[in-house]
Amino acid sequence: MDAITFTLNGRHVEERHVPPTTTLLEYLRLQAGLTGTKEGCAEGDCGACSVAILDVDAHGGPSWRAVNSCLVLLPMLQGKTVVTVEHLTHDNTPHPAQEALVQRLGSQCGYCTPGVVMSMFEACYRKDLDEPWKLDDQMCGNLCRCTGYKPIREAAAAVAGTAPQDTFGAALSQARSQPMTLAYASSGQQYFNPTSVEQLSSLLAAHPTARLVCGGTDLSLEVTKKFQQLPLLISTEGVPSLRAMTKTDAGLVLGATATLSDVEAFTREHCPPLHRMLRYFASRQIKNRATLGGNLCNASPIGDTPPVLLALDATVTLRSTRGVRTVALREFYLSYRKTALQPGEFLESVFIPSLPKGARAAAYKVSKRRELDISAVACGFVVVVDDANKVVLARLAYGGMAATPKRAALTETALEGQLWTEETVEKAAASLDQDFTPMSDHRGSAWYRQTVCKNLLRGFYLETLANHVPSLPQRPTATVHLELAAGE
Ligand SMILES: Cc1cc2nc3c(=O)[nH]c(=O)nc-3n(C[C@H](O)[C@H](O)[C@H](O)COP(=O)(O)OP(=O)(O)OC[C@H]3O[C@@H](n4cnc5c(N)ncnc54)[C@H](O)[C@@H]3O)c2cc1C
Ligand code: FES
Ligand code: FES
Repeated sequence: MDAITFTLNGRHVEERHVPPTTTLLEYLRLQAGLTGTKEGCAEGDCGACSVAILDVDAHGGPSWRAVNSCLVLLPMLQGKTVVTVEHLTHDNTPHPAQEALVQRLGSQCGYCTPGVVMSMFEACYRKDLDEPWKLDDQMCGNLCRCTGYKPIREAAAAVAGTAPQDTFGAALSQARSQPMTLAYASSGQQYFNPTSVEQLSSLLAAHPTARLVCGGTDLSLEVTKKFQQLPLLISTEGVPSLRAMTKTDAGLVLGATATLSDVEAFTREHCPPLHRMLRYFASRQIKNRATLGGNLCNASPIGDTPPVLLALDATVTLRSTRGVRTVALREFYLSYRKTALQPGEFLESVFIPSLPKGARAAAYKVSKRRELDISAVACGFVVVVDDANKVVLARLAYGGMAATPKRAALTETALEGQLWTEETVEKAAASLDQDFTPMSDHRGSAWYRQTVCKNLLRGFYLETLANHVPSLPQRPTATVHLELAAGE
């Protein structure tokens, strides 16, 4: 059996005896003595445990990515480079991220500070932090109970994109490292990290009861919250071809293991409805690990990408040693958390066809707060109207309204063939009560969901009157609020 091999703060590490479900956070604090990295929630919500990993970005180049170490299982680091807050200071000179936080008094009790610094660390080396909302997104995964976010945000704004010419900056110009296979066993648990589609298919055929894992942002919670033993895990993240994203005239092909940060960047131009949904998805640290395949295969009724992908009429490619098959996403979800995946099969890629000419398309997410929250209701809509203003195609899909993400078949029928007017939308919206019988839970009552799903359709009609495929809503950012307040 192999050793888990990675670089931690410049030091080569080989581990042969830790259980494969040991989280990086546990390892840092309990084995490596690196207690700068803190535990708050152990479920990806607070950011106190953030560290940076040298990862490959959408363009194939290395990039620093802040991640939640509480959700990273140690074998996921195979062949990777990790930096924690202890490693940032060189020759007694703080890293610019640390210095900026000190200068702006961005730390009081200090518990959140190492995590905040690591998110700022990623921000330093990003080349695409060119709009205020991106800074909100970069920092929204870090909670602070005492300082207040103004000094933290100002410190982050001061260093974002400054690309310090230090060893971390130099690491970004080095050749990317090759993925390393791993066959690991310890404490009665096994973990495999194949690096080709063939290896992955064969391993799954040999171990049909194995659990697949990629980013682990869903699966690791079974370890950290439910204290479960996972006897056999097979990872998809070591297979480079599964991460590819391509655009053709026919549409987009998104690899199952493309991280949501990469998909978010790629779809900005190529698929605004999906891009908009990802803007409001989790936090930067989660999106740096979470994958499209994981979101679809987790099959949560409140997962955010299925509704928009259903509306876009996406198909998924499933692979096993028996071959490859393509399934329409609308046939992928069979019942609550059950998908069409057969034993030995994995999701390889997602195909999103180009929008029909003139289509109106948008996605919406309703949650209790804008950043880092789970949906009460999410939806995606595509409507095509002919020259006579008649609806020739309507695809409306919702999450949070049923046991699976689901199209609103009756409402679609009520729209098709009708004039695309406010009256038609109003009449059709009533059909949503026949399409869905939502439940009440802590995210929203059945009444709330029934009401909001209609309002979202009304909002879509209004929003797409002028701009058929709107991108991000023009919400004021914190900075704009402050400027307005100062000018008053
Ligand atoms: C703090 C926090 C916030 C979150 N916020 C959101 C949110 O706003 N919206 C949202 O929708 N989700 C959210 N999630 C859930 C999660 O981040 C997403 O579902 C994510 O996309 C899962 O991807 P992953 O690669 O981490 O999946 P993993 O955890 O690795 O896997 C998830 C499931 O999919 C299966 N799987 C993974 N890849 C494949 C494959 N290629 N083929 C077959 N099966 C596969 C695994 O076996 C597992 O059952 C959040 C999670 C956390 C912890
Ligand atoms: S400990 Fe809270 S995000 Fe990891
Ligand atoms: S400084 Fe105390 S939690 Fe942020």
